[in-house]
Parts: sequence; C-alpha cells; structure tokens
Amino acid sequence: MKVLVVGGGGREHALCWTLAASPLCHKLFCAPGNAGIAEDAECVPIAAEDIDGLLAFVNEEAIDYVVVGPEAPLVLGLVDRLTAAGVKSFGPTQAAAELEGSKGFTKDLCAKYGIPTGAYARFTEAEAAKDYVREQGAPIVVKADGLAAGKGVTVAMTEDEALAVIDAAMAEGAFGDAGAELVIEAYLDGEEASFFALVDGDFALPLAAAQDHKQVFDGDKGPNTGGMGAYSPAPVMTPALIEETMARIIRPTVAGMKAEGRPFKGVLFAGLMITAEGPQLIEYNVRFGDPECQVILMRLMSDLLPALIACSDGVLSSFDLRWYEEAALTVVMAAEGYPGSYQKGTAISGLETAEGNSDDIKIFHAGTKRDADGKLLANGGRVLGVTAIAPDIAEAQDRAYTVVDKVDWPQGFCRRDIGWRAVAREQKTAS
Ligand code: AMP
Ligand code: GLY
Repeated sequence: MKVLVVGGGGREHALCWTLAASPLCHKLFCAPGNAGIAEDAECVPIAAEDIDGLLAFVNEEAIDYVVVGPEAPLVLGLVDRLTAAGVKSFGPTQAAAELEGSKGFTKDLCAKYGIPTGAYARFTEAEAAKDYVREQGAPIVVKADGLAAGKGVTVAMTEDEALAVIDAAMAEGAFGDAGAELVIEAYLDGEEASFFALVDGDFALPLAAAQDHKQVFDGDKGPNTGGMGAYSPAPVMTPALIEETMARIIRPTVAGMKAEGRPFKGVLFAGLMITAEGPQLIEYNVRFGDPECQVILMRLMSDLLPALIACSDGVLSSFDLRWYEEAALTVVMAAEGYPGSYQKGTAISGLETAEGNSDDIKIFHAGTKRDADGKLLANGGRVLGVTAIAPDIAEAQDRAYTVVDKVDWPQGFCRRDIGWRAVAREQKTAS
C-alpha cells in the first residue's frame, strides 16, 4: 500500500517509524514531515492544514491510505474530503472531531449520556460567566470552547484569576474565535492520565495508557506546554480502572456519538482525572497524544497498519493488539524559551552517537530540519523526543537521560524529572 501520514511532529515521527516497519506498507509519504521523519518516509512540503494541497497530492500519487496525525486537519474536514474522493483514511469526520473542536459539545454529550465529568456551564456573555464564577467560587476552571493550541485552559486558584481570564477571552479576544464561547467547569482533584482507544464507529479497543507532564519545569511548575515527556504504562491505570474507564466513559461516548449521527472512527484520547470518586473526563482529543504516542508505539508489538485500517472498515472487534510488557519513557528536548518565544535554526549534533544502534532507544524528531549542507537544525518549540524502553520506568528514565546527556544542543533544555511519579510508586512497591 501507499500510505500518507499527515503532520510533522514527534507523534508523526513515531507513526511513520511504526508504519514504515509494516509489511503492508510499500511506500510511505509524510506531509510535511521533518528531518527525522525523512529517514522513514518521503517528506512532501504540504502543510497539515492545506486540505486542497493534500487532496491533490493523494490523487496524483494514488495514495491508498491516509493517517491523519494532528487535530487541525480533522476539524477542517480532511477525512470527509478524502472519503468523498474515494480514499480511505484514519481519523474522525469533521462532525465527530467536534469532541476536540468544541469543549461545550463534549460537555453536553457527557451530560446527555451520563459520562462522569466536572459540573459545568457554557457562556457567550462575560457578565453571566462572571456571575457563575462568583456563585461557584474558586478553584474553578475556565476553558475556551474551541481549539486554542493548548493555551485555552486556565485552572484558576482564585476568583480574581477566573474573572480576569473571562475578560481576556471575551473583551480582549485572547484566544481569538476559540474564546468567543467559554466553558466554566468544576475543579477536579486527583492524578491525571492519558487514555487511548481505537474506535471503529461501534467498537472500542483500549490501547496502552500513558502519563504526560504538561508543565514546562521540574516538579510540575511553570506554564502548560504540549507535553514535556511521557511514560507508559501509567501505574495509576490499574486493570480495574481501565475497565471502569471503558465502561463509564469510552463505550458510552462511542454509543452516544453513534446515536447523535456522528459515529466516531479513529483514536479517542481521553484526558482523565483519577479522583476519589473514580475516573472523570477532563477532555477529549480525537488524535494520538504527543508525546504519549511515542511511548505507546514503542511498546506496540503488533502491526499498527491493519489495526488502523480496521477502524476505517468498521471491523475492529475482531482485532487484538499485543504489547511489550516493558515500560517506555520519552524526554522531550525543547528550545530555550518554549512555550514562550524561542529561537529556531540552532544547530544540533551528536544524535547518531547518542542514539547508538540499540532497539531500546529511539530519538523521535518533533521539530527539526536540515540546512543546505545537511546540518541538523532545531525548527520548533519541542524539538526531540528521546525515548527508551526498559524493564521498568526507573530504568527507562535512566537510559533516556543517558542519551539526552549525549545530545549536543546548547540551546535546548528538558525537564530532568520525567516519570517521577511512577518511579516513586515503583520504589514504594519495591520497599
Ligand atoms: P487541556 O489543555 O484541556 O488538556 O487542559 C490543560 C490542563 O488543565 C489539564 O491537563 C489539567 O491539568 C488541567 N485541567 C483541565 N480541566 C481541569 C479540571 N476540571 N480540574 C482540574 N484541572 C483541570
Ligand atoms: N500531550 C497532550 C496532547 O497531545 O494533547
């Protein structure tokens, strides 16, 4: 098959690296890709949001299957356009991508189908939103309804902070159109986990769970990012909790979306808060997480491509996936300044030596390019995802940081404590 992966981050590198190993995949393209992806796929300079450009390329190359990485093209209706053109693809339709495209839509779906999530209200008027905050008190969470590049959520520890962000969103347009409507939601206390399931419209197959580290600095301090590191499995997600999540959150969502005439196909990514009352949904994403995808695919033993195609074809229930028992951990190396402003084009060297040729280490590229002389340059905020697999999380952490320390990139930084929660748990169990 000729396969096209859409996107150009660490998630898409992990997807390309995995799909390139599938015996079903004879030719792999990635649009737009990056310097690391270029080792596994032929990169074509078409932006992930350029729906017309992607369609033209798919036609020209007679692509058999398209795997859509990021949310933006899904929300723009790429899968609908491909389907209309007779091309099979992995990902939800525009109508089903509303689960990520509108937080209000998801909260209403949860309310209608009894899916556990924090109490909430939707607002298009600042005054009404402020009254609600004053009534509920802090802590409280204010969210832009639409896609806001990961910046639309404020966990307000004080009422004043919540009131200020309402003004910023509604009077000053801080989140653009995405913030014209706000969802205000009860603060949930607990440990977070990222839960993934493949879905074929009817049936959901759980994937390995993972945990992410959203804050930029050690000790979970500083502003939110796209994710500074991840590991899988997530010790908090016990088999009982996985079953509870499937029964109370994932399956009712899949059934609800079907009942609403928006059947969901693709990968459903539930951001969960594990509270004293059990798992609660924080939000849905309609794509793999980044960097969660890197650790999940590092642990996948089965061929990914037929499983993705089974989602498109509605035959996932006859599938099972096999996983390596070992733990995987990714440390993200980012450009100094991220998630604020940062410099692009700084030189990175020593990657081949750092990576070595062990199957247990993989450096995924999240934002890199090569200059005319073939020199590797940073080309984004999150730049590399150093990933290791090992018998337990503590050892995966050790191996990943050993590789990180060999990467020569003075303008890069990373958190030094990725996996701390799981490592602490492992140490407690061992003692
Ligand atoms: P998001 O960008 O939607 O993933 O949200 C960013 C982060 O905000 C989440 O990973 C949580 O840490 C936090 N968050 C979102 N909603 C809530 C909530 N209701 N209670 C507590 N924390 C939340
Ligand atoms: N790492 C979280 C996300 O992909 O949204």
